[in-house]
Amino acid sequence: MNNVKWLENAVFYEIYPQSFCDSDADGIGDFQGIISKLGYIKELGCNAVWMNPCFASPFLDAGYDISDYYTAAPRYGTNADLKRLFEEIHKLDMHILLDLVPGHTSWEHKWFRESCKAAKNEYTDRYIWTDNTWEAPEGMNALIGISERVGACGVNFFSHQPALNYGYYKPKPDKPWQQSPQDPGPRATLEEMKNIMRFWLRTGCDGFRVDMAHSLIKNDDNGKGTIALWQNVREFLDREFPEAAMVSEWGEPDKSLQGGFHMDFLLHFGPSHYNDLFRCEKPYFAGNGDASEFVKTYKANRERSGGKGLMCIPSGNHDMIRLAKYIRGERLKLSFAFLLSMPGAPFIYYGDEIGMRYVEDIPSVEGGYERTGSRSPMQWDDTQNAGFSAAPADRLYIPIDPSEDRPTVKAAAADKDSLWHEIRKLIMIRNGHSALQSYGDIEFVYCEKDRYPLAYIRSDENEKILVILNPSDKEVVFPFDGKLGEEVYSFGGNAAQNGGRITAAPVSVCWNKIV
Ligand code: NOJ
Repeated sequence: MNNVKWLENAVFYEIYPQSFCDSDADGIGDFQGIISKLGYIKELGCNAVWMNPCFASPFLDAGYDISDYYTAAPRYGTNADLKRLFEEIHKLDMHILLDLVPGHTSWEHKWFRESCKAAKNEYTDRYIWTDNTWEAPEGMNALIGISERVGACGVNFFSHQPALNYGYYKPKPDKPWQQSPQDPGPRATLEEMKNIMRFWLRTGCDGFRVDMAHSLIKNDDNGKGTIALWQNVREFLDREFPEAAMVSEWGEPDKSLQGGFHMDFLLHFGPSHYNDLFRCEKPYFAGNGDASEFVKTYKANRERSGGKGLMCIPSGNHDMIRLAKYIRGERLKLSFAFLLSMPGAPFIYYGDEIGMRYVEDIPSVEGGYERTGSRSPMQWDDTQNAGFSAAPADRLYIPIDPSEDRPTVKAAAADKDSLWHEIRKLIMIRNGHSALQSYGDIEFVYCEKDRYPLAYIRSDENEKILVILNPSDKEVVFPFDGKLGEEVYSFGGNAAQNGGRITAAPVSVCWNKIV
């Protein structure tokens, strides 16, 4: 299960390929552009990449609507270019996860076209179809009136994303179209997903981020069927690709980690209270919020998953409003001091390291809707299109943040007090202390409702480090039994111990060894 040694100190960088770097001036990012910026990612300190879907697609959902799992999207390059990207990543001693979308395809996928036919064929049972055009599968939206076949096809997300059929947890006898995961159709779907994983792992990727991993088996309220499905995948991987790393978009680590994922994300949906920290009316890291529910759920998840696997906290992702919309100035540094001192592998969304802003009021592109403002092109420098592309500005697939003072990598690198430098420093320090890395233990020392600071001890057999985070604008005091030792990192002031109490300065962070 823990064959993936490199996860111990992995710090991920999420690349949204359309928006990262355009090497051929067509207004959209590509593999060669990414290759040219790998040195940058490494310089920041990240040693792993998650890249959003890069496969053939009509791009009605930014590539989460796949029309051919085995072919790279021509706008990014060829399969050979993608292989070269893997090789260049490995040369830098880094790793890359692709995005696996097992829950649905595009309605343009040939499997779907075949499954729409009245005559039975290999793909008849590849998707979830009812046997009555006027009856949608319970709890799902459906495509109707588009097929020669009689029936309604369930969709997983947008209307153009028909749901692949992995079966129902408990098929209802009065609904004969509901199949069991053991039936031939659902089994064939799963085997095909394994073939896709085989194909890309053999080509050289290091694993997958799995889209909507929780959603595969239907009417599976407590997740048991879906957990069993992923355990089956885990057996396959253990047998054939024991070093492949898997992270789920699930948001319930007690379930996903049991299913054999190495990591699960805490996300803006689901029960984790992630939003309380960064994205709500009063986010904790904005200085006037509450982290106690987050901590309570975090602890419960750790207990329930028996210390198995990693819970990963991202700075953001392509589905969330950018962090910098809610958290400003020096508090962004504090947010990263939290993200980079928690267990699990941290994920940095491209551009968050320079405080890229949410671009307001831009029209939806590729099914982004309100997410589009978080997907604008990376801002590299002060040249044309912020260095993202040499295409005319009106040909960029999403416009650049128009604000004159938009942050850029160039300006951030030139300013020694920038967020970018602070993040580099934080990653370097994390790398120097195994207790702070993925598998180090955590014990919460202080986290009271509506109070500051947040304090916890990270530890392993080598050392114990107390992390104190005070995003509030007041000096705060909390009780502490141990004795503070050498300071590993601080920002905004130092922790002062007076007997059994520690005082933390306003808007400050301290990482201190405990003796
Ligand atoms: C989650 C992805 O992160 C999101 O971008 C996508 O639209 C849906 N799943 C559907 O695949």
